[in-house]
Amino acid sequence: MISPNSIDQLLNAASVEDVVGDYVNLKRSGSRFKGNCPFHDEKTPSFTVTPSLGIYKCFGCQKGGNSIQFLMDIENLSFTESARMLAKRYGIDLVETNVGNKQEYEETQKLREGVQAVNDFAMEFFSQQLHQENEGKNIAIPYFRERGFTLETIKKWNLGYSPESWDAFHKAAKKAGYKDDLLKSAGLIKTRESDGSHYDLFRNRVIFPLLAVSGKVVGFAGRIMGKVENAPKYVNSPETELYKKSDFLFALFQAKNAIKKQDKVLLTEGYTDVITLHQAGIENAVASSGTALTPGQIKLIKRFTYNATVIYDGDTAGIKASLRGIDLLLADEINVRVVPLPEGEDPDSYCKKLGPEGFQDYILQNEKNFIFFKAELLLSGAKDDPILKSDAIKDILQSVAHIADALKRNALIKELTRICDVKEEILAQELGKLLRQSIIQDKKQFLNQVDNVIKLSIDDIPQNPLTDIHQEFALIRLLLIHAHKSFDETQTVFEFVIQEYLADESIFFKDPLTIKFMNSFPDEEGIKVWPGAEFYIRHIDTELSSFAAGVFSNDHVLSPAYLDNLIYVKTEDDSYRDAVIAIFLNIRRTKIEEIIIAEQQKLMEPDAEDSIDETLEYLDYLNTIKIEIANKLGNVVSRF
Ligand code: UTP
Ligand code: MN
Repeated sequence: MISPNSIDQLLNAASVEDVVGDYVNLKRSGSRFKGNCPFHDEKTPSFTVTPSLGIYKCFGCQKGGNSIQFLMDIENLSFTESARMLAKRYGIDLVETNVGNKQEYEETQKLREGVQAVNDFAMEFFSQQLHQENEGKNIAIPYFRERGFTLETIKKWNLGYSPESWDAFHKAAKKAGYKDDLLKSAGLIKTRESDGSHYDLFRNRVIFPLLAVSGKVVGFAGRIMGKVENAPKYVNSPETELYKKSDFLFALFQAKNAIKKQDKVLLTEGYTDVITLHQAGIENAVASSGTALTPGQIKLIKRFTYNATVIYDGDTAGIKASLRGIDLLLADEINVRVVPLPEGEDPDSYCKKLGPEGFQDYILQNEKNFIFFKAELLLSGAKDDPILKSDAIKDILQSVAHIADALKRNALIKELTRICDVKEEILAQELGKLLRQSIIQDKKQFLNQVDNVIKLSIDDIPQNPLTDIHQEFALIRLLLIHAHKSFDETQTVFEFVIQEYLADESIFFKDPLTIKFMNSFPDEEGIKVWPGAEFYIRHIDTELSSFAAGVFSNDHVLSPAYLDNLIYVKTEDDSYRDAVIAIFLNIRRTKIEEIIIAEQQKLMEPDAEDSIDETLEYLDYLNTIKIEIANKLGNVVSRF
């Protein structure tokens, strides 16, 4: 399977007008291109290419999709073949994972279990070395104690010690029956190039086990005890089957309950920062392990809270370096605040200095909205230089543009007018430019998501898959935005939909996401209730949450995929009733069309003769209903 990231990258590079342009003579028409459809004979062009969305669509034969899809259709390739061909042409390295292959999957699974066993063994080993051996007791325990860690803390975090030896761990592991290959896969021993012999990764260091959210130990960090000279302060496990640095947050396992309870996470940089804060009773702290925040880490955070306070070590270089990671948080609609610490302090040292309550107070009093913090930081750097200042303002607006909520953006702009000392119109205008660029990006991404789901479920769908699935998506989308609004005097949109859905057994959904969604409504005393859009945006099922996020990140502008598939839904608030009706009519029409095809099939069967009159009569009836629905749809549609 090709990784979704690679697909994104590929679709960004392989522009649709380029790819299609090799096969079709395209003529520009406004923001689109038009040409004669390569998939069916036609004299007047009904084939369009929309570069801003990365898609093509033929209104004659209904074929449509992105660049990869186009190559699949025109060259008769599989998805993978088509992606590989484009990747080669555009010089993109595709990352392919092997989950598609059962044998390889099972082998990977076995390896994971092996690495897990080795890690469990190693954590126990390091702990014993700390608590039971003289070296540990005499050197490492005093080191921890000197840093202010209580014995309880040392035990709680399963801290350990790796003795001053090249092979103490290796020997113990061998004795316990672990093979060299597995120990290497776990990253705990390394091989000398000169003679192929092995040595321990962790030597003469205090050990911090790295636990996944589940509480399983996935790796280790070893800190040097004395002065740091010619050796790294920390040695960390390499990436293994279980440990991916970019998807890991230190202490999330220990902090997750406090994060949920307080609905807020404190982000720090270091292992010791977190441990000290937890010991001081500040238990919602985690560490990014010294790197800028990654999307994987943000995903983890979002499972527990949408409020993050970043505590920076007190040096400006570090702060500037991590500003980028924070834009990602904003884009994920996380409310970000920052607390700068005085020069030379980190949370560990400063918490010790101020004491638990003092530190808590310091955070509450110095927390600042990230945007204002960034603005003040960059503007103070620009001093009175007009060019530096305008660069700084652009940079600040970039961050604002990441925020999906228009109300929040407006409020920020008002405040920034004061901080930047620039007219509101100018800031708003600049922001508008940036937003237009990013909306195009969003749409592209969203369409890819839609296309991926379509591809996943394409085998189950008898006909016209695009239309069916898009109807279903349009329904979820409408519910997310309008479910709570009134449909008529007696019911909400949600109630109407549920009633329609439950009343008509022939309505069933084909797309797995839609099915999941329609089954997700909570039950209150036997009555389905609408849990609110927020419920979905924060849903731990990432398929649901990313769909919901996609819906709202588009500023309620409808994805043109729906429009291209003739689902006439406008974005204006007053048209949602008609939209709901149109969708249900569409769903019924599709259903009827399926029955008609099935009945027509019956006519071809050998014993059709016997029931031919009945079948024809039934078909007649079905056609009448179909026309009726089409008329109603026409009415609804023309009302838009
Ligand atoms: P710091 O240098 O701030 O260390 O690095 P620290 O966490 O405050 O540790 P102490 O208090 O000096 O013992 C912050 C984080 O960066 C990563 C670690 O995750 C560390 O906690 N780091 C730092 C490394 O991985 N390797 C290094 O050599 C240094
Ligand atoms: Mn420190």
